[in-house]
Parts: sequence; structure tokens; C-alpha cells
Amino acid sequence: MKHELTMRMVEKPILSLTEAISLGLLGLPDLVMAGYGFIGSQDYAQTQFVEEYSGEGKVKFFVLEGEKPIASLVVKTDFPEICGKKTYNMSGIVVSPKCQKRGLGKWMLVEAMRRLPPCEVVVGNTKTPMAVLARSSAMGELGFRTFYSAYEVTPNSEHQITTDHAQYLLGYLDIKKKDNVAAGYLYPVSRDILPTYVPEVEGLPDYIQKAFDPIIRMQQEVGDRETIVSPLISIKGLSGGFYG
Ligand SMILES: CC(C)(COP(=O)(O)OP(=O)(O)OC[C@H]1O[C@@H](n2cnc3c(N)ncnc32)[C@H](O)[C@@H]1OP(=O)(O)O)[C@@H](O)C(=O)NCCC(=O)NCCS
Repeated sequence: MKHELTMRMVEKPILSLTEAISLGLLGLPDLVMAGYGFIGSQDYAQTQFVEEYSGEGKVKFFVLEGEKPIASLVVKTDFPEICGKKTYNMSGIVVSPKCQKRGLGKWMLVEAMRRLPPCEVVVGNTKTPMAVLARSSAMGELGFRTFYSAYEVTPNSEHQITTDHAQYLLGYLDIKKKDNVAAGYLYPVSRDILPTYVPEVEGLPDYIQKAFDPIIRMQQEVGDRETIVSPLISIKGLSGGFYG
């Protein structure tokens, strides 16, 4: 990379593309559109912004190369507690396509967690295999176990279907008011948040391919009518499951 990387934290809501630019985040719209794989107009980019960067209680992290944003992460820090534990919701992580798969997503996650007051649970939902790998690797370094849907994806774990995180999974789905979730903990979100492509797992570890099998099949089934996601939950200090 040509310039040194810095990380910037913005606590106030960013309500529009114009406001992002006035905060010195020129190029953020391009990062969001290209990073997530959206194809669309300025109006579409604006909708994306309102979904992702506005709203109270969301702390935004931006990795800048020189003055250009090349990665961003949104953390909702006032999310309700799950199982009586301080919980953050990560609603968006994106790295510029030319910088992906070089450790930047993981680095941004670790740095963000170090800058925020401590929490014990991190939730979110995704359909992106690399988001699962980056989160499980980063949170593993910080002592968290991570689960995608019913599977454990913690580095160096057995990567099996488990109920160890079941209470947290149910707590999260309850908060999201997802009481009618398909088998495999799959549910639709707005196509304005994530596009409807089928997740790509070729070349990724077997356990990731296995964990993504249900979501791939369901996304193929619904086509571009809906975007299908599954919960991604990281928990600190977790021992057993329902009975642990
Ligand atoms: C998801 C995203 C932010 C991840 O960022 P990234 O910078 O590409 O990810 P990283 O390079 O930090 O990779 C993290 C881990 O994946 C591992 N990884 C990468 N490619 C791999 C492969 N082929 N096989 C196995 N592991 C792989 C890395 O090695 C690293 O783990 P490690 O440190 O334990 O080795 C980025 O890919 C992205 O912007 N995707 C599009 C936007 C999107 O869909 N976001 C999610 C919305 S919910």
C-alpha cells in the first residue's frame, strides 16, 4: 500500500453521502457500492447509506489509506443484552475489493474491539464466507468462540454443529423478532442491505463449505426475490451449552 493506514472512529450518525464527504470521507460511497457488490445509481447509494451509517448508537470505524477510506465497520453499541451479557451488533463490514483477503478486515475488527468498552457477546447476520472467516479469526484472538448458524467456526475448534451457543442464538433471534426462522436459522433481510448473489465458497475450508450449504441452497431457491442470511455470534468465556 502506498500510504500509511490509520483508523478513524465516528460516533455521530452519518445521514447522507453529502455529510460523509463533509466529514472528510470522500470515496466512502464508492467503497460501499463496490465492496458489497451493489450495482446502482446515486439514489441507491443514498439508500445504502441511510441503512448502514445513520441511526443512534452506531459507532463507525473507517480505515484510511492516506485520506481514502478503504474499509469500514459499523458497531451498534446500545444493542440489548443477551443472556445478561453486554452485547454489540456488527451490522456492516466492508473492505475495498482490491484490498480484500490481505488481513485488513481482521485487523479492523481487532482494533475496533480494542477501542470500544469491553463486551462479552458480538452478534450480527451475514451471507459472506469471508466475513465469517475474518470475524472468527479476529474474535478468536480476543478469546471469543464464534458460531455461524448452528456451526462452531472458532479457529482450531472441531467446527461441528453444536448447541453450546443455543441460548444466545435464541436470544438474538428473539430481539430481531425472527420467530419464524427456516430450519438452519435462515431468514431474509432487505436487498438494500446485501445483494442477492449466491455465496461463493470454492477454495475455502471444508467446514465453511458445510456451514454455508443450507444458505446457498436457500439463496438459489429464492433467486433475486430476497437476500438470505444467518446469525454470526461470538461469545467470550463460553463453556457448555444449555446444560453447561
Ligand atoms: C468480509 C470482508 C470484510 C473480510 O475482509 P478481508 O480483509 O477480505 O478478510 P481478511 O483478509 O482479514 O481475512 C480474514 C481471515 O480469512 C482467512 N482467509 C482468507 N482467504 C482464505 C482461504 N481461501 N481459505 C481459508 N482462509 C482464508 C484469512 O487467512 C484470515 O484468517 P487468519 O488470520 O486466521 O489467517 C471482505 O471480504 C469484504 O468486504 N467482503 C464484501 C463485503 C461483504 O459482504 N461484507 C459482509 C457483510 S455482512
